[in-house]
Order: sequence, then structure tokens, then C-alpha cells
Amino acid sequence: MTDFSLADDLSLALALAGDADLISLDRFTALDLVVTTKPDRTPVTDADQAVERSIRAGIRAARPNDSILGEEYGTEGDSRRQWIIDPIDGTANFLRGLPIWGTLIALAIDGVPVVSVVSSPALGKRWHAARGHGAFAQVRGEEPKPIHVSAVEKLEDAFISYNSIQGWDGAGYLDQLVELSRGVWRARAVGDMWAYMLLAEGSLDLVGEFDLQPYDMAALIPIIEEAGGRFTSVTGEPGPWHGNALATNGVLHESALEALARR
Ligand code: IPD
Ligand code: CA
Ligand code: CA
Repeated sequence: MTDFSLADDLSLALALAGDADLISLDRFTALDLVVTTKPDRTPVTDADQAVERSIRAGIRAARPNDSILGEEYGTEGDSRRQWIIDPIDGTANFLRGLPIWGTLIALAIDGVPVVSVVSSPALGKRWHAARGHGAFAQVRGEEPKPIHVSAVEKLEDAFISYNSIQGWDGAGYLDQLVELSRGVWRARAVGDMWAYMLLAEGSLDLVGEFDLQPYDMAALIPIIEEAGGRFTSVTGEPGPWHGNALATNGVLHESALEALARR
């Protein structure tokens, strides 16, 4: 292990996000954006690849002993300290010109995400957290401000985001989604990293989603948990390793798990 503090690692992640924003924003809505299809039949752009190459180069230079897991270029190294990168979360939005997308950078130690940055330059906003140091949101040009999840106590008063009907349907959870929607105040499909950041800021109370990879989730976790929320799989396991996500303001978590377990 190294002698870097979480504050040092957070500073590095913020610097990497700054470089990433310059690359991604320059390519957002570019007429010559190159879109190709990956073997898993999902789209990738030249911006996804350029951002991940930039972040990897920055990590290799500043933390040569750390390992890396990234969506576009896989894994390298086997250190207990692992940087987990999604260069552009919301590629489908990015390539269609919707501003809801962001770069996700997390540091996990022994598989537990402890530092993260979610940077969404087209929304002019960035969120960050380090374990034990709180969660913050920063509007471009302003100072970071502490954020906190909502205090909504009952599912019937909750504003939820389910992100995509296809996702719940594909996972065999459509009935639970319909039932959950009937019992809450409002249900919307916000999508991608933004839903989780709105949860961390207290604007949404519950977000659930299926068919996710560790790099889709790792950076969300320190921000949500440091904002006072809870993040597990839909069956209650902690961490980004279980293929799906249930994030709440904490108060609602047990009732949400119960609602999703009903068959
Ligand atoms: C996608 C986003 C989205 C989720 C998809 C992911 P990408 O990531 O995380 O919210 O519903 O399953 O593939 O591909 O845009 O990085
Ligand atoms: Ca993603
Ligand atoms: Ca991505």
C-alpha cells in the first residue's frame, strides 16, 4: 500500500476529471464524432476512449503501483488499491446530444470504493466525496457545497427514479416496479449518473436499476453514502459488484428491499 491520504487521492481524481471534461466537452455534439459498436453491441465514441486513455495515463504517472479497471480498456495491475473508471456514463445520451452524462472516477481499496468524482460538464456540475470527509456538489465557477440526502420517511411520499422500464423488465422485476410505482408519490426515469446524484442531493429518494457493471456504480457509492444515503444491490448486498443498484436516502432502504423482494 502507499502513503497517500484519501485527500491526496481525491485531489488526483479531481485533477483527472478536469482533464476529462476538456476532452469530452470538446467532442459533445461534434459533427465528426466517431461512433462504433462494441462486441457487446453497445455504442462507444472516440470521446469515451480518449477520456479513458487520459485518466489511465494520469493514474499511471501519479500512482504507478495502483491497479485500474476501466470500461473501455479493461484491467491492469493487481494492487489492493484499484481505480475504477467509466469514462462517459451515458454514452447513448452523449451521442444523441442529451446533456445527461458524466465521467465516473473511483478509488476502491480492497474492493470498497472510498474516494470518487462524478463530473458532468454539459450539466456544469461535479460531485465528489472521500470516506469520512462528506459529499459535495460543485456548480461550475462556484465553490463546492456539502450535500445531504432527503429526510422522506415513507415510500408513499417518495420521488423515485427507475431509469428504464426495459431494465426492470429484462431482469424479471416489472411487476415489482409497477407495484412500487403505485405506492410512491412520483416515479420518473431520470437515468444514468444523474439520478444517483439527485438522490445524494436530496431531490430524489430512491433509485433502482439493473444490468450494471462495477464501473457504472463504483463512483456513485462514496458520494451517496457520504451524503447520508445507502447503496446496495436490489437484494441488499453492499458494493458495486452485484450487477444492479438500489440507492435510497437510507430511511427508505429496508422498505424498498422488502417491496422488491415481493414476488
Ligand atoms: C450505461 C448507464 C446506464 C445504464 C446502462 C449502462 P454507459 O452506461 O450506466 O445508466 O442503464 O446499463 O450501460 O454504457 O453509458 O457507460
Ligand atoms: Ca456506465
Ligand atoms: Ca461508459
